[in-house]
Amino acid sequence: MQAIRSLFMPKWSSDVRLDGKTAIVTGANVGIGKETAKDLAGRGARVILACRDMAKGEQAARDIMREVKAAKVVARQLDLADTKSICQFAENIYNTEKALHYLINNAGVAICPHSLTVDGYEMQFGVNHLGHFFLTFLLLDLLKHSAPSRVINLSSATHAMGKIQFDDLSGEKNYHPFRAYAQSKLANVLFTREMAKRTEALGVMTYCVDPGVVNTEITRHIVRPLVDIIKTFSFVLKTPAEGAHTTIYCAVTPENQLLTGGYYKDCASAQSCRAGQDDGTALKLWAVSCHLLGIRWR
Ligand SMILES: NC(=O)c1ccc[n+]([C@@H]2O[C@H](COP(=O)([O-])OP(=O)(O)OC[C@H]3O[C@@H](n4cnc5c(N)ncnc54)[C@H](OP(=O)(O)O)[C@@H]3O)[C@@H](O)[C@H]2O)c1
Repeated sequence: MQAIRSLFMPKWSSDVRLDGKTAIVTGANVGIGKETAKDLAGRGARVILACRDMAKGEQAARDIMREVKAAKVVARQLDLADTKSICQFAENIYNTEKALHYLINNAGVAICPHSLTVDGYEMQFGVNHLGHFFLTFLLLDLLKHSAPSRVINLSSATHAMGKIQFDDLSGEKNYHPFRAYAQSKLANVLFTREMAKRTEALGVMTYCVDPGVVNTEITRHIVRPLVDIIKTFSFVLKTPAEGAHTTIYCAVTPENQLLTGGYYKDCASAQSCRAGQDDGTALKLWAVSCHLLGIRWR
């Protein structure tokens, strides 16, 4: 089975060190985020695990410290479904960190039943897009001050099936769990594209990542029999460590070999779908996101 896997699993490795760098990884207590944090810590970076459940976050920090000699990791509370929590997290970062070189917007909720964030946004749009949009906005001064710095947004191939439903962002008229996920992942692509234009001159580069199909807990809201079928074929799924490769690739590859605002998959530049390249929609989403959050981000 391993021999078959090695035929189609993309291979990539790099020994770039990140000593002296600081990174935040959201949703770092499990899955792709935890493996990303572990890899960055192994390269010498100080890594802040931004987790909504502190017990899980601290356990992840202990796991990483056990596996990575001299790892500099710390867990901090962040609930992306609550703008107050996002503000508190950012305030804490400004109080404790002198620099921030990497913001990895990795956390995600997928294909869940209709529910709302604390602030009343549809959960998947609220956490996957708005929460990360707001977090990035709040941390931008530190990212600018630490330039060159990078923001890496985790999207998904499912963005290709997404449409931004500007007339029903709360999903109250017509909610479908998968459509809402695809919409939020398209929003990640559009956010990356629009942000790149605004922050490139400031030395803050932005990349969007499709990690592939990865064997993680992301399936937690999908009905059990379907998950069981998917897991039967787990040998064709990426492991969480493999799923972290493209994020790490975007973090360590020299800037002149990457395109800010670009979409990356299997450790290489890739094309997002047509809707992901729609500058008009990207601009409109930017304006709507600012309006919903009550912020001015020009
Ligand atoms: N796995 C795949 O096949 C796949 C494919 C394409 C894209 N992706 C993307 O990759 C990213 C990582 O996914 P994964 O597969 O590693 O999923 P995962 O194992 O389910 O991990 C998701 C992480 O996000 C956190 N999270 C969820 N809601 C949050 C909130 N309100 N505030 C803060 N953190 C929150 C979770 O925390 P808790 O543990 O506390 O819930 C968990 O740490 C996601 O953005 C996902 O959309 C995954």
